[in-house]
Amino acid sequence: MTNILFVTTSPRGADSLSTKVAQTLLDDLEATHPAARVVTRDLGTDPLPHLGPDLLGGFFAPEDARTAEQKAAAALSDDLVAELKAADIVVLASAMINFTITSTLKSWLDHLARAGQTFRYTEDGRPEGLVTGKKVYVVLATGGIYSAAPGDAFDFQAPYLKHMLGFMGLTDVEIIRVEGSIFSPEAAENAVAAATAQARTVAQQAEAA
Ligand SMILES: Cc1cc2nc3c(=O)[nH]c(=O)nc-3n(C[C@H](O)[C@H](O)[C@H](O)COP(=O)(O)O)c2cc1C
Repeated sequence: MTNILFVTTSPRGADSLSTKVAQTLLDDLEATHPAARVVTRDLGTDPLPHLGPDLLGGFFAPEDARTAEQKAAAALSDDLVAELKAADIVVLASAMINFTITSTLKSWLDHLARAGQTFRYTEDGRPEGLVTGKKVYVVLATGGIYSAAPGDAFDFQAPYLKHMLGFMGLTDVEIIRVEGSIFSPEAAENAVAAATAQARTVAQQAEAA
């Protein structure tokens, strides 16, 4: 059975273009993996807590010294790590807000980056990702255009996301961009159509693989 983790992050609800294209990709993947089990995290409407003293205590305090609050905070992080580790495929819809990922997606990453669980440092000090062997599809929605100059110099979304995912071992990342939607309704329509076509193609490739 294939496990798919579907993560959406837009604060724009039903207007979200990243969710729309990612949903098409998910539907196509489900069609080609009929027995797939899908776990959904809608971080835009159901955000995670930010890092705070209880969560950090839960991460770093010795297990037998943790308070009830620290244990509860760490339990949520443990669940998120388990969801990620159980996934064969991750479909991640990322809205650009102020040149980068949403704060809700950042919070998800903050819950996942756990020393000894999702990454470790080797004896010679190199970081090593521990969540390997997964395919990740990232649908990025941006008002402007960041796939080429001059916008690419201000893309603090895709490079950061790729780095953080890779840091945890998720190196097989395919990016689909819904970009340039801000310029006109037609531009938005074209951006969605192009990204949807790309999503359909990558889903077919996943079937062939
Ligand atoms: C509060 C806010 C900030 C935004 N900041 C940027 C930005 O810095 N650069 C950009 O190109 N688009 C920006 N946008 C436009 C969004 O990236 C665009 O609407 C995108 O489609 C959002 O993803 P979504 O459709 O999945 O919600 C912003 C939109 C909002 C609502």
